Amino acid sequence: MSGAVLLEAKDLEIRFGGVVAASGINIKIHEGRKLAIIGPNGAGKTTFLNMCTGYLKPQAGHILFNGQDVTGIAPRKLVRKGVARAFQIPQLFAEHTVIENLLMAGTAEARNWAPLTPIERVTQRAQMEHLLDLTKCSDLAQRSVSELPEGQRKLVDIALALALKPRLLFMDEPTSGVASSEKFEILDIIAGALEEARVTPVFVEHDMGIVDRFADEVAVWNRGEVLFRGAPDEVLNHPDVIRDVIGEEL
Ligand SMILES: Nc1ncnc2c1ncn2[C@@H]1O[C@H](COP(=O)(O)OP(=O)(O)OP(=O)(O)O)[C@@H](O)[C@H]1O
Ligand SMILES: [Mg+2]
Repeated sequence: MSGAVLLEAKDLEIRFGGVVAASGINIKIHEGRKLAIIGPNGAGKTTFLNMCTGYLKPQAGHILFNGQDVTGIAPRKLVRKGVARAFQIPQLFAEHTVIENLLMAGTAEARNWAPLTPIERVTQRAQMEHLLDLTKCSDLAQRSVSELPEGQRKLVDIALALALKPRLLFMDEPTSGVASSEKFEILDIIAGALEEARVTPVFVEHDMGIVDRFADEVAVWNRGEVLFRGAPDEVLNHPDVIRDVIGEEL
């Protein structure tokens, strides 16, 4: 991957009443470099993801994706351009099987949704099976989503996001709800699948062990601003980060 700028946020501002959730956010996200976003509760991390994925429109500033201004574009249109978000569970049809969920997503992506066509016949089946293979979920294809443990649902959720063929994928605390003992394993699979599919991940994370292991770069958020950004070693050992972010996580 080239390391070209995929997404650029310029002077993003948003406030909710008196709360300033983004105060002049400027950041570039580079293709192929896994970016972790850390920061204390209420720092504006989720708000940033919401703005980048079209769920919130900034009150000032711009978001460029691939050089094109996409500020305020609706999520479903942004997905078509290549910006996706992993949602964790709510997007899944829990009573359906894993492969049915994938086929629905794949069919929607290909825009050949036809209500009277049996889902088994849609052409994306092989592609969707490949995504289950990438996310190590092939054995789960015929299982109902509702009976899967949390870690496996996360993996299915990533497979679903990949069905939308994104170039950039935002994830908000991708291993929340997963037992600590399984977090690394789940993220190893997610990271491998994204790399294979050539998707650049941006993830918000509170667990510094995960940040250290999976991020190529770390950006620190505080009070609606990007305090700084750098390599994991540099950022995680910075005294301000230890005091204001890591201290709080502990
Ligand atoms: N829709 C909203 N309406 C009102 N206030 C909001 C809204 N969304 C976020 N806020 C406020 O904006 C600030 C930033 O919130 P945000 O959820 O982005 O923080 P965060 O960094 O993701 O925090 P956490 O680590 O707890 O998830 C908080 O003070 C929050 O209460
Ligand atoms: Mg949040």
